[in-house]
Amino acid sequence: MCGIFGYVGKGEDAGRLVLEGLKKLEYRGYDSWGIACLKGRRLEVKKEVGKIGKVAVRFSKSSLGFGQTRWATHGGVTRTNAHPHFDCSGRVAVVHNGIVENYQELKKKFKKSHKIVSQTDTEIIAHLIEEEIESGKSFTEAVRRAFLRLKGLNAVVALNAQSHELAAVKSGSPLVVGLGQSENFVASDSLGIKDRADKVVFLSDGELAILDENRVQLFDAQSGRKKDLKVTPLNWEIKEEGLGRYRHYLIKEIYEQPRVVTRIIKEKGGEAAYLADLIKKSYGTYLVGCGTASYAALAGVYFFSTAAGHHLNFSLGSEFSYAEDFINDRSLVIGISQSGETADIIESLNKAKKKGAKIASLVNVPGSTLYRLSDFPILIGAGQERAVLSTKAFTAQLSILLYTAYVLAGRGADGQKLLNKARRSLQYVLNKESQRKIKKLARVIKDREHLYVIGRGVSYPAALEAALKIKEDSYIHAEGFAAGELKHGVIALIEKGTPCLVLAPHDETFGAALASAMEIKARGGYIIGLSPQDNEIFDYFIKVPDANLASIIPNTAVAQTLAYYLTLLKGYDPDKPRNLAKSVTVK
Ligand code: M6R
Repeated sequence: MCGIFGYVGKGEDAGRLVLEGLKKLEYRGYDSWGIACLKGRRLEVKKEVGKIGKVAVRFSKSSLGFGQTRWATHGGVTRTNAHPHFDCSGRVAVVHNGIVENYQELKKKFKKSHKIVSQTDTEIIAHLIEEEIESGKSFTEAVRRAFLRLKGLNAVVALNAQSHELAAVKSGSPLVVGLGQSENFVASDSLGIKDRADKVVFLSDGELAILDENRVQLFDAQSGRKKDLKVTPLNWEIKEEGLGRYRHYLIKEIYEQPRVVTRIIKEKGGEAAYLADLIKKSYGTYLVGCGTASYAALAGVYFFSTAAGHHLNFSLGSEFSYAEDFINDRSLVIGISQSGETADIIESLNKAKKKGAKIASLVNVPGSTLYRLSDFPILIGAGQERAVLSTKAFTAQLSILLYTAYVLAGRGADGQKLLNKARRSLQYVLNKESQRKIKKLARVIKDREHLYVIGRGVSYPAALEAALKIKEDSYIHAEGFAAGELKHGVIALIEKGTPCLVLAPHDETFGAALASAMEIKARGGYIIGLSPQDNEIFDYFIKVPDANLASIIPNTAVAQTLAYYLTLLKGYDPDKPRNLAKSVTVK
């Protein structure tokens, strides 16, 4: 949830490099930021509340520095709580990603003997290291011992102004060490360091790296024993994509979706066959994801049932570890994740792996933690997704799952045809005229407090995803429901004028979806129909050409653009909604 970047080298440009590195990692957290660089024998520190993206500060010449973009967990979003945090001497500084679960207990112990200035759990780590140094331990040993006293999942980078070193140690949250020429780096992901290092070491849980300008040493944090570095060449292409003619990444990425579908039809047949084979051979397959990816996973259950008559299980990443007692060495667990770093998925998949399950994944970021832990990683190839909202990755996940379901049924060509139909429908809803109607709808409903989305069958996960897009970007309270659940309680929420999006593709759910819409209308609801044809029940109609089982793709695109226009009308930043981060690396 936080972006960490550190530099140690022979150069004198640490401040600028750290600032630039953090800007690349801003998607991981953007409440506040802070940087510390060594200037002479003291640390020069700059911290601010807000986003780092447009910050232009200058630092004195320095060859050692690090910083963090924060996504607050402990302590409000204030300058004081922004990282780095320091020990009492000001010589040891710490940045951190994660949650120190026992920080209250540690804080109580330190209250009298140390000067604690922030409300964060992170600051405690600096004082823990300080205590160890004061008792005569080397920096390496002090960081190691301090780390062992932390409970929870934590990635910690500590800077020692005296020994001119950085220490990086982790459990859970990712850290990558970049090996450069007379300079070394540490960052939350390889995107931050790829410009200056072509070799990296991905730290595994329980590993401690000590970096100076000449070398990187690796230790087992538990025993303190030295380990060999496992160096990985950074040879995958991470194409950084600019805004081009678009105002925001969100709308740019929404518009890239037809191309993403085309690419999957053309290029992913081999991977679909491979995944279908794994599913066929497994004794129980589980699709696991969080947020938007969880809705792709849920849609997958409908795809495989309808197209292949094959049952797959679905679980939220955060719930899977409580319900995986039945996993064994014949199980296949498919993690679905854009970032490949989502803590809830990583943790439950690691548990499944320990039980002998095979792990496959649909992941968008090469080299990510999920990619590396999978026995069968599949890259979805949506291209870099920079807006915090997941859009084109969702479409790619759906397209690959749908394609695989058809391949499993021995009807790969039909799967391709259906995806082509979805692409054409997508293009239709993204055309000028459709977008004019969606913009107008945004103006009509922008001041409503609540909004509901209903659908049946595969339009149920579509409803969940549509509501998520609207609420996370525009902050309008939006909920998605299975239409059939309405009369079991949800209908109590409908008031005069409550906008309700009804997903009504021309499939087996059509009649029942309209019946649910009638029930809402009878109670004063304002019915917005997303369907191939207008109907007298609809108060507002958005045409979505039929794509059968794949209608979830264009239906979601309507909600994505509606969310975008609502957000613009409300004056918020569509790419960086409040309180969110692109990669959720804490539990
Ligand atoms: O990187 P992942 O796909 O694992 O992320 C999962 C969710 O955190 C993510 O989809 C989140 O719900 C987004 N804000 C959705 O737009």
